Amino acid sequence: MSDSKKQKKIGILTAGGDCPGLNAAIRGVGKTAIVEYGMEVLGFNAGYTGLINSDYIELKESKLSGILTLGGTILGTSREKPYKLVKEDGGENDKPEKIIETYENLGLDCVVCIGGNGTMKTANLLSKEGLNVIGIPKTIDNDVWGTDVTFGFDSAVQIATEAMDRLHTTANSHQRVMIIEIMGHHAGWLALYSGVAGGGDIILLPELEYNIRSVCKKIESRYEDNKPYSIVVVAEGIEHPKNKSAASHIAESIQTYTGIETRETVLGYIQRGGSPTPMDRILATRYGSFAAQCIAEGKFGTMVAVKDNDLTTVPLEDVGGKLRLVDKDHPLISKARKMGVSFGDEFL
Ligand code: F6P
Repeated sequence: MSDSKKQKKIGILTAGGDCPGLNAAIRGVGKTAIVEYGMEVLGFNAGYTGLINSDYIELKESKLSGILTLGGTILGTSREKPYKLVKEDGGENDKPEKIIETYENLGLDCVVCIGGNGTMKTANLLSKEGLNVIGIPKTIDNDVWGTDVTFGFDSAVQIATEAMDRLHTTANSHQRVMIIEIMGHHAGWLALYSGVAGGGDIILLPELEYNIRSVCKKIESRYEDNKPYSIVVVAEGIEHPKNKSAASHIAESIQTYTGIETRETVLGYIQRGGSPTPMDRILATRYGSFAAQCIAEGKFGTMVAVKDNDLTTVPLEDVGGKLRLVDKDHPLISKARKMGVSFGDEFL
């Protein structure tokens, strides 16, 4: 058999924080690779840890059935960063070497790395070592550079919005200020989208500097306008003292300055759990199937991406180490401002 006719063998891994849609993506890659291209598919356990330790399972087509709707990842995940030097290693690190060994010993033709920014950074470094690598962008944060959207985001927006709908009823009944903290250390996409969808009155994003006086003024003016309750959406990454959560900081400040009863809710990992929305199932399936096609076409060293709703690829080299943040003049921000939503920066 000539080399091009030889059955291709590929590996898939999921790394970084989990999110809804990971199994849909694994299924998209695996089924297309098996059904359309006759490839053999392995799944590495617990992200890059599986690649380091040659810990994998065979992903036969039967193993890929019935997982489309499942949250989490059947392969498990970890925050393992194989290129990071830790003190205990005494400056030595043989993990990249071990990964190359696994790749060569198993006779892999490509590894598909499904993850966020950190995962793409590692994928790029492995590609530079000469491994065939393709990345698929996922994260509830929606902050992967080079693509318009990551899967996991839509599901998290849905969860956070539903939480805000529920908080509205209690805020209204008790005439309180309700603070809801949404995930996103650097990027405020999730807080912005769920904040607008959930009718937040004030939305604080890591990308926009806020002033607590602006926040309190907005709450007081709503009170004077016969709206004695408010929903304040805060991204976890807004500026706040290290010894408390962003939500507690804002809640304490509001209660102190306005005297209005204030409560806080930190949504936390609930945002990453459960079944993916139909939009995320479709996006993860499109990404996965396209990644398998890219393997067949030899488009290595790339991340699959969506630009203007079309699938494309971007070089991993361009993605690694960058973040896609919310632009201060994002159209959704200006629309929300025109409707009276405060971003806490009005009186800076
Ligand atoms: O990257 C997704 C994310 O959920 C962030 O929004 C959040 O800050 C972080 O992961 C939490 O990470 P970990 O799972 O390591 O606690």
